[in-house]
Amino acid sequence: MSKLFSPYTIKDLTLKNRIVMSPMCMYSSVNQDGRIMPFHLTHYESRAAGQVGLVMTEAAAVLPEGRISHDDLGIYADDHIEGLKKTNEGIHRHGAASAIQIAHAGRKATVKEDIFAPSAIPFNEKYKTPIAMEKHDIDKAVEAFADAARRSRQAGFDIIELHAAHGYLINQFLSPLTNRRSDIYGGSRENRYRFLKEVIEAVTKVWNKPLFVRISADEYNREGNQMEDFYYFTEEMKRQGVDLIDVSSGGVVPASINPYPGYQVTYAERIKKQCSIATGAVGLITTGIQAEEILKNDRADLIFIGRALLRNPYWPKQAANELGVLLQGPKQYERAWN
Ligand SMILES: Cc1cc2nc3c(=O)[nH]c(=O)nc-3n(C[C@H](O)[C@H](O)[C@H](O)COP(=O)(O)O)c2cc1C
Repeated sequence: MSKLFSPYTIKDLTLKNRIVMSPMCMYSSVNQDGRIMPFHLTHYESRAAGQVGLVMTEAAAVLPEGRISHDDLGIYADDHIEGLKKTNEGIHRHGAASAIQIAHAGRKATVKEDIFAPSAIPFNEKYKTPIAMEKHDIDKAVEAFADAARRSRQAGFDIIELHAAHGYLINQFLSPLTNRRSDIYGGSRENRYRFLKEVIEAVTKVWNKPLFVRISADEYNREGNQMEDFYYFTEEMKRQGVDLIDVSSGGVVPASINPYPGYQVTYAERIKKQCSIATGAVGLITTGIQAEEILKNDRADLIFIGRALLRNPYWPKQAANELGVLLQGPKQYERAWN
């Protein structure tokens, strides 16, 4: 029995298999103010047709100044809902569940507007210096995440993932490398967690479906957060009702990383074991056998696939063949499928 192709239930939602399309910015809302374009509809629906169990859309910005670039997807206005709804319809048509990653880039935004962060430290010399957020800026960002959650509900998504990884705004609050505040949002672990805590509180007021959070569980810096910190944050998130931690790494400060197959799986495994919470593994997982090993050994609950799904929308079929699983495909393709 393959575990990769076994269903997985979270709250009232059952995924048909454990394969998740990892969120990947497509920078395709060019001059479109964050709106969904025909490219997005084809892109996401084709992965659903390829039998991915959960299709997660790319980071959608909760505020215009929270975009990584002007070409990012947005969820900062009600007129974004219609395109996102169509995206959902395409995904659901093929029996896949849908998720949206909501995000704020903080100091990593490269937009023309002023940019904001916990402290006025630029990512590197190529980036603008962010404005250190005042209390009202923090409140505005928290509210923007809640508005984005409400819009996600209206657009029909099954899952929300908060982007608290890769050195974007939430991560900037969590990390002592980027958060040098002396108020209640900085200093101790508890204080650095406060922004995410408020975001989760605000989001769960308008969202009662499954909630994931992506974190960077290695900052590749001795002065940064360490595993003990991530266990603390995870325990807090668990207490607040977060269903799954999607475990990535890096992006907080410039660092050199040497990725190898499955290089981040160990973090997903450690968090799962230490905190007894569901985790997602991601990063250079490219074969069905690799995915199956992770699941069979209980190292994670879901497998996030990024670039391999860009190369091949039918990656699940490729993985099923490797594992000797007979996978049901789109009815229209029956004569070519098995
Ligand atoms: C083109 C591209 C865009 C990405 N955009 C996002 C994003 O929007 N949000 C996110 O959390 N990670 C993003 N990532 C990271 C992926 O989700 C994934 O974690 C990473 O590519 C490692 O997985 P892989 O080896 O299977 O590709 C992006 C990666 C790529 C290649």
